[in-house]
Amino acid sequence: MKKIFILLCLLLAACATDTLNQSNSADPTPVSASNRLLYKYEYSEMCRGCHTEIYEQYKDSMHANSFSNPIFNAQYFKEVVPRALKDSKFLADARKCLMCHSPVVYMNYSGLVSTPQQAANYESGVTCDFCHTLSGYADNGDYLQNPSGKKQGPLQNTTHHAEYSGFLQVGDYCGRCHNATSHNGLEVKSTFYEWQESSFGKRNLVCQECHMNKFGILKNGIAEFQSGVAAHLNIGSISVDQKKHDKLYTHAFPGAHSVSQLEDALNIEFRVGSRSADDKGRFAFGIFVNNERSGHKMPSGSSDLRFMWLSVTAKAEDGTQFPVTLLPKIRRGAVDYSVAGASPDDSEVLGNDVPLGSRLYRSVFVDAKGHQSLFHYDAVKNVFDNRLNAGEIRSEAFEIKLPKGFAGHITLSASLSYLAAPSSYAKHLDVPDFKPVTVASHKKIISLVANSATPRK
Ligand code: HEC
Ligand code: HEC
Ligand code: HEC
Ligand code: HEC
Ligand code: HEC
Repeated sequence: MKKIFILLCLLLAACATDTLNQSNSADPTPVSASNRLLYKYEYSEMCRGCHTEIYEQYKDSMHANSFSNPIFNAQYFKEVVPRALKDSKFLADARKCLMCHSPVVYMNYSGLVSTPQQAANYESGVTCDFCHTLSGYADNGDYLQNPSGKKQGPLQNTTHHAEYSGFLQVGDYCGRCHNATSHNGLEVKSTFYEWQESSFGKRNLVCQECHMNKFGILKNGIAEFQSGVAAHLNIGSISVDQKKHDKLYTHAFPGAHSVSQLEDALNIEFRVGSRSADDKGRFAFGIFVNNERSGHKMPSGSSDLRFMWLSVTAKAEDGTQFPVTLLPKIRRGAVDYSVAGASPDDSEVLGNDVPLGSRLYRSVFVDAKGHQSLFHYDAVKNVFDNRLNAGEIRSEAFEIKLPKGFAGHITLSASLSYLAAPSSYAKHLDVPDFKPVTVASHKKIISLVANSATPRK
């Protein structure tokens, strides 16, 4: 009896939504943020019963946590809100934070959310229902929602509560939130544009193909997808699997915050030409830094916060370390943002996070006073950007100074590390430190012969 009752409720609920849909279906015009509250978003918990696997993948993603994660939360409530309450010029920008970091709250709450309690009435994060009722964007970044509340999805011929939408399958769909311009008119996030300009963008290999495949990354250039059912209908203790699909999109959205993901992301390789030092004892070699797997620059996203660096060591068999120098050498006193420690703000911004002299890949934003700023809303200018382009293989040159006439084995070790944000930033916001992740490493033992031009001992 209980089972039948639940089934009836489901059917009734279905009919109820269908009637509602019909009254709207004559007018497919999407509703923008200015017309909020027409549609009541459903909680992701609601979807869990039938879309169990998708929910499990989603619940730990950065989308589910884009509001609750400690660094956003600290920055928003400790820095942004107090400032917006004092400075009306900053108010609109402060409100916009939630447009991307908690769109359901943004759509329901028209004022500035200034306490966690105000947000707590709605589901935070980028939710299932938000993503699946999105049908477009207006010019000003407003969302276009599908007013019928039918869940937009990639499957053809699905149930009453969902309908096919091609919009979910384009780069724009992800891209509009992953690009941001600040109140100072500065482009502070450009993952979407970076992708558009890349070979991936040009051949329309979209964000979803990499970030929503089974591994969240291309393996040997190929995207392998999950297959199976997208839903189960749970009626009491009976679970009825729905139709099987060959291709399903995974909802874990791994990125810079997932260590295992980063560990596979890039690749480095030594390039050694000569087998001996020159007549001054200098031995030159190179490293290829390979970003072929990412569809945008690396680091991307919040590129003001993210740091990636290449460090190299050279060791003789007896353990002697030879100092490794980046080429071309920088002049003493010159400002060079691509070398850790070679710009005036580095000691404050980077502290001891990055070994001095490492090659840094970063973009540098400065505030109105010309100081490097990790707070994108303070930034007025982007003064430097040497990040790896999508699909790029960058070549770096190094040299070591060897004792005259050196012969024997040398072990070259290189590692590429990634840090989501430096400890100076974590300290400022009073959140736990981020740990650097090794995104690639390579070791090579080379056997050097004595340079015939140098006198033997
Ligand atoms: C950031 C936006 C986003 C969020 C959050 C999101 N989805 Fe999706 N979902 C997508 C996209 C995009 C696709 C389809 C990709 C394509 O076809 O290219 C998809 C596909 C699906 C599908 C079709 C089957 C499949 O796996 O391909 C279902 C069902 C679905 N999502 C349910 C959910 C549920 C339930 C949640 C929450 C637990 C959720 N989605 C959260 C964007 C999202
Ligand atoms: C009572 C069970 C049930 C609940 C609850 C439910 N769904 Fe579904 N949903 C289904 C079934 C069944 C399908 C069809 C699956 C198929 O075709 O394989 C489906 C399909 C979908 C699709 C695919 C649509 C398409 O055409 O591509 C999306 C997207 C989706 N649901 C989103 C959601 C979201 C978001 C929630 C929560 C707000 C939710 N669903 C809650 C049962 C449910
Ligand atoms: C060719 C595959 C590919 C495509 C296409 C792609 N990405 Fe990525 N993305 C990666 C890889 C690889 C990484 C680095 C490893 C990781 O963080 O997952 C990454 C990282 C990211 C990060 C974290 C970056 C950081 O430094 O903090 C974000 C955010 C992101 N991608 C969003 C997107 C968006 C949005 C799109 C579409 C506009 C997109 N990606 C297209 C492969 C891709
Ligand atoms: C409503 C806005 C919105 C949409 C639409 C959206 N994202 Fe995001 N996404 C975010 C926000 C906000 C974060 C950052 C959460 C954080 O770190 O605080 C994020 C985080 C991510 C991350 C994790 C980055 C990391 O550093 O770990 C990836 C990967 C990603 N998104 C990919 C996608 C893809 C692929 C799509 C399209 C299917 C998409 N996003 C659609 C807002 C959005
Ligand atoms: C247009 C959409 C958008 C707007 C507006 C926006 N963000 Fe974000 N934000 C994102 C996305 C997407 C990411 C993730 C990028 C990445 O993974 O590197 C992000 C990342 C962050 C991060 C890093 C989080 C982490 O986990 O590493 C912080 C902090 C942050 N945003 C704060 C803010 C604040 C404060 C505001 C308002 C002043 C704001 N954002 C406005 C889209 C947006």
